[in-house]
Amino acid sequence: MPGASLGLVVYGCIVEVWVISLGKWDMGMVGEMMRISDMEIEDALEFCVEQVRRNLGTFTYAFQNAYSEGGFYQPIENVEWTTGFWTGEIWLAYEYSHRNDLREAAELQIDSFAERIGKKIAVDHHDMGFLYSPSCVAGYKLVGSMAGRDAAIAAADQLITRYHPVGEFIQAWGPMDAPENYRLIIDCLLNLPLLYWASEETGDVKYREIAEKHIHTALANVVREDASTWHTFFFDMKTGKPDHGATCQGYRDGSAWARGQAWGIYGCALAYRYTKRKEYIALFKRVTAYFLEHLPADMIPFWDLCFTDGDDQPRDSSSASIAACGMLEMAKYMDTEDAGYYTETAKKLMKSLYDGYAVKDPKISNGLVLHSTYSNHSPYNTCNHYGVDECNSWGDYFYMEALMRLHEDWKPYW
Ligand code: GLY
Repeated sequence: MPGASLGLVVYGCIVEVWVISLGKWDMGMVGEMMRISDMEIEDALEFCVEQVRRNLGTFTYAFQNAYSEGGFYQPIENVEWTTGFWTGEIWLAYEYSHRNDLREAAELQIDSFAERIGKKIAVDHHDMGFLYSPSCVAGYKLVGSMAGRDAAIAAADQLITRYHPVGEFIQAWGPMDAPENYRLIIDCLLNLPLLYWASEETGDVKYREIAEKHIHTALANVVREDASTWHTFFFDMKTGKPDHGATCQGYRDGSAWARGQAWGIYGCALAYRYTKRKEYIALFKRVTAYFLEHLPADMIPFWDLCFTDGDDQPRDSSSASIAACGMLEMAKYMDTEDAGYYTETAKKLMKSLYDGYAVKDPKISNGLVLHSTYSNHSPYNTCNHYGVDECNSWGDYFYMEALMRLHEDWKPYW
């Protein structure tokens, strides 16, 4: 195992072999997993495209809810933070199949995103990137949609209104002057590519400068000593100094919410993509190692990484897809050995998802990947219980994105 040291400790008759991971995961820890094959990638993508097309009847002038209920998404208006993922799935299906019905549906949805940002409907939060990168930026990049371009720039303008110059971060949720909201969350790293794109498009550096400040503040504070991550981090309102970490969707404050860790993996890769700062590669390796070291035998995490095989807890399959996308993004900038390691690991995650979690029969679900968890209540968090052990919109989207990354030299919407 490159980058790791081994030790042996003897307590009476108990012999414990320990492994200190210095960036890469010991493959022996969960056994040698199979990798998804090229044929399986194609088979999975074919199914995804057909499933997306089957859904167009219900979900062209409406959007999928954030999570399925009993395996089936219900239609909603374009008001959730998650609606961009559905449009992103349509674009991914279009990229793979070049079918016109998909392009037409995705372009109709861009009109809805333009209306949403124009009328400022449910945009008082930081998730402009999740909403506008896979929908409108994708439409502009793929088919030159000017409506998509204008809406995405307006969304970037909206996002930077949430920047606090004192603390140098973008506030996630709620009114900007409330102490209980004076925090960032790790998920926001995925909202920042919208700002880099807006600077490239407009020539105005203000978006990129804010993204860079936020990345620095976020990564300096959310990653703990052992490379697990805080979901959210508070700052002092007067001085802007870091104050304390707390969970929102994780099991408890000191644990590692699986999806937060996965956002951290992909977030570090995107931070490196845009800044080219070498320390983000090192951070990526540590955050990824922590994630991999806390996976159960089939490599699909429970909703919080404090749980493992034998715990009666739901999985969050979406975290595996998000992590796979992050590894495949980071692999593009690494030497051959590291790139090979992370690509192979991503293929193992995808094999497990394909074999054990992906929907194969449209009669059981109108989604793509089962066994995700959106929001799970614990004795130590304030979350309500919804979207538990269901499909969710980003789980489906990132599963397709990872497949496309493995299928071809896919150009990110991020
Ligand atoms: N960004 C919110 C979530 O991952 O649930």
